Amino acid sequence: MASSLLLLLLPLILCRFMALAAPTVGSEVSDAVVLLGKIKPALAGAGGDDNLQLSSWNSSVPLCLWRGVEWAFSDGTPLACAGRLERANLSLVRDHSLQVTALRLPAAGLAGAVPREIGELSSLRSLVLGVNSLVGSFPLELGNSPELAELDLSGNLLGGFLPPSIWNLCGHLTALRLRGNNFSGGLPPPAVRNTSCEELRFLDLGGNRFQGEFPEFLTGFRRLSELDLGGNLFSGDIPSSLADLADLGKLNLSGNNFTGMLPAFAGRFAAEAFAGNSPELCGPPLGECRGGAHTGAAKGRTHTSSGVVAGIVIGLMAGLVVAVSLCIGWAQGRRRSRGRAAAEEEEEVGVDEAAGEGKLVVFHGGEHLTLEDVLNATGQVIEKAVYGTVYKAKLADGGTIALRLLREGSCLNRAACLPVLRLLGRARHENLVPLRAFYEGSRGEKLLIYDYFPNRTLDDLLHEARVGRPVLNWARRHKIALGVARGLAYLHAGGSGGGAESHGDLRARSVLVDELFVARLTENGVHRLLVAEVAEEMLAGAKAAGYKAPELQRMKRSCARSDVYSFGILLLEMLMGKRPGREDLPGLVKMAVLEETTMEIFDGELLKGVRPMEDGLVNALKLAMGCCAPVPSVRPDMAEVVRQLEENRPRNRSTLYSPADTRSEAGTPF
Ligand SMILES: *[C@@H]1O[C@H](CO)[C@@H](O)[C@H](O)[C@H]1NC(C)=O
Ligand SMILES: *[C@@H]1O[C@H](CO)[C@@H](O)[C@H](O)[C@H]1NC(C)=O
Ligand SMILES: *[C@@H]1O[C@H](CO)[C@@H](O)[C@H](O)[C@H]1NC(C)=O
Ligand SMILES: *[C@@H]1O[C@H](CO)[C@@H](O)[C@H](O)[C@H]1NC(C)=O
Ligand SMILES: *[C@@H]1O[C@H](CO)[C@@H](O)[C@H](O)[C@H]1NC(C)=O
Ligand SMILES: *[C@@H]1O[C@H](CO)[C@@H](O)[C@H](O)[C@H]1NC(C)=O
Repeated sequence: MASSLLLLLLPLILCRFMALAAPTVGSEVSDAVVLLGKIKPALAGAGGDDNLQLSSWNSSVPLCLWRGVEWAFSDGTPLACAGRLERANLSLVRDHSLQVTALRLPAAGLAGAVPREIGELSSLRSLVLGVNSLVGSFPLELGNSPELAELDLSGNLLGGFLPPSIWNLCGHLTALRLRGNNFSGGLPPPAVRNTSCEELRFLDLGGNRFQGEFPEFLTGFRRLSELDLGGNLFSGDIPSSLADLADLGKLNLSGNNFTGMLPAFAGRFAAEAFAGNSPELCGPPLGECRGGAHTGAAKGRTHTSSGVVAGIVIGLMAGLVVAVSLCIGWAQGRRRSRGRAAAEEEEEVGVDEAAGEGKLVVFHGGEHLTLEDVLNATGQVIEKAVYGTVYKAKLADGGTIALRLLREGSCLNRAACLPVLRLLGRARHENLVPLRAFYEGSRGEKLLIYDYFPNRTLDDLLHEARVGRPVLNWARRHKIALGVARGLAYLHAGGSGGGAESHGDLRARSVLVDELFVARLTENGVHRLLVAEVAEEMLAGAKAAGYKAPELQRMKRSCARSDVYSFGILLLEMLMGKRPGREDLPGLVKMAVLEETTMEIFDGELLKGVRPMEDGLVNALKLAMGCCAPVPSVRPDMAEVVRQLEENRPRNRSTLYSPADTRSEAGTPF
């Protein structure tokens, strides 16, 4: 039985991604000779041959045993040093077609200088010499390196000016790390104006003695995702165009002498990113700019809360362009990692098959379920969804399960379903309802079998004002929001081991809340089991209910950022106590901020005994608005959302542990 599953998965296992190898150019002097003759003596410095790592670079040592060096043939094929033959082959040293592709000797006790000959290694892609004691300056010849993508010289004693030639590496450079050296002077601009350094993602120049104005050309490096200029001597204003870097997820400008008003980052970065600058640096997330602060951009406001909110809202209104491609790239990355993970999953799935009766695939924690159990369970309808019906079902042994019977014709065929199911079946997190098994009947009927939680949906809790429902004060709503955020963050981080997953249909109805206000997401990933027409129906439902991200046109494009949007709406729903399908919640917030009536938009039940600023209410509102940004790329990711919610907890959380506190007792004290 297990073998039939293996057969189904075989195509997945076979479908591997081939590494692309770039062709390279040969040279008269072999790289091995350059390494031995020039680079080794320079790196060793006065220590000479004593360096343990460098002493392995020796023509009487097989090439594969040279420490910290990776090689490839001139056609790009890497030298496979895992093989026994290669590891013993002495004549490889004399093979002129072998070229160095990586030089990695971090923390290797190197005490010399960075030799300019490194720039002559025509296939070098990685140079990692961090945490050594290298001295001298940055050789300008390094800028000639035709392939260099990763350059890490951080944690050395290098000094002097950086040569402008460093930006000649743009085009292939992906990461440049020079943190913790003694470089000084201004950061030189690239020789070619408007260089966008298209591939550069990571730039860490922190902990040096760079000075002068903020290097504005960096704001043209469009793909930057991490920028660290912390701990330098930069001064002056931070250009507002820095906020336009859509991919920028980490920023550190702390410990300089920057002044003026911060760009409108829309809550993307915490205050610590800007700590330790001039006291004149202001604007969210730092303190408010005083009227007449030296940029003069922010006028004092009477209502502190709306002043704080205004910055972010205006930031959001500025960008109305919608990018969809982000989701596509994300989906591609996801597909790739899934193929890789498939091979290791076998033992976690069992199959129970009885002739003529269908098939039960059980996942972790569902081992006790048998076909007989499922077939004999007695069910009661609890919900109808576009794709089918949800039942609460009693097992013969007294246990209860939740069954989702997929409506006929709504589901993809079995071969397409199984890989997705296996992933859904692996997702285990305290804020997710676990999928325990999948049943396919002999006539093709399909059932998803989940743990049953006897709880209400968040939608019921928020909007059904019946007597006996618990009061949803801020402490409780915060706990629910944090639970939802953690569940999503787990999916987005690929916690189930198959690469990043999106939820796809987050809304108050798909959040179950128990009596201790622990939130559990259900229906995650169900859209991926559905045929396109039904998935689009699901999306139309999400749109009507107000949770659909504006850029999301097809359900299969659903991705982490579209989930973040839905989360933002859900958080607004919790803060305002209003159903998003009926009103445009972000619009209401923007309006309230402009009219300075921000405090009035919060749900009354929420405000009882709460000081909105200190208890993180206003921060939560800002966070929700950030998540609902029309431009997907400026939305925070869920890990950041979790962090911010954790940082802004309400003070009084005692009510979390007294579930008896219900709506029937009007005017419950906080
Ligand atoms: C290479 O190693 C041999 C012995 O293993 C040693 O005698 C020789 O001096 C080394 N050559 C260099 C250039 O380090
Ligand atoms: C050793 O490497 C040389 C040069 O690449 C190659 O021609 C030879 O076949 C290799 N010998 C063995 C035993 O692998
Ligand atoms: C750093 O460079 C400056 C000159 O720019 C020099 O005076 C200072 O001694 C250097 N510091 C270290 C620790 O090398
Ligand atoms: C370079 O930037 C300037 C100012 O930002 C702009 O006016 C110009 O069109 C840009 N040139 C190119 C070739 O992109
Ligand atoms: C930011 O830069 C400062 C100064 O270099 C450093 O101390 C701090 O650890 C950095 N923060 C992060 C989060 O990297
Ligand atoms: C920071 O900049 C201000 C001027 O903007 C200057 O007066 C002050 O001396 C600078 N502080 C340091 C530590 O360089």
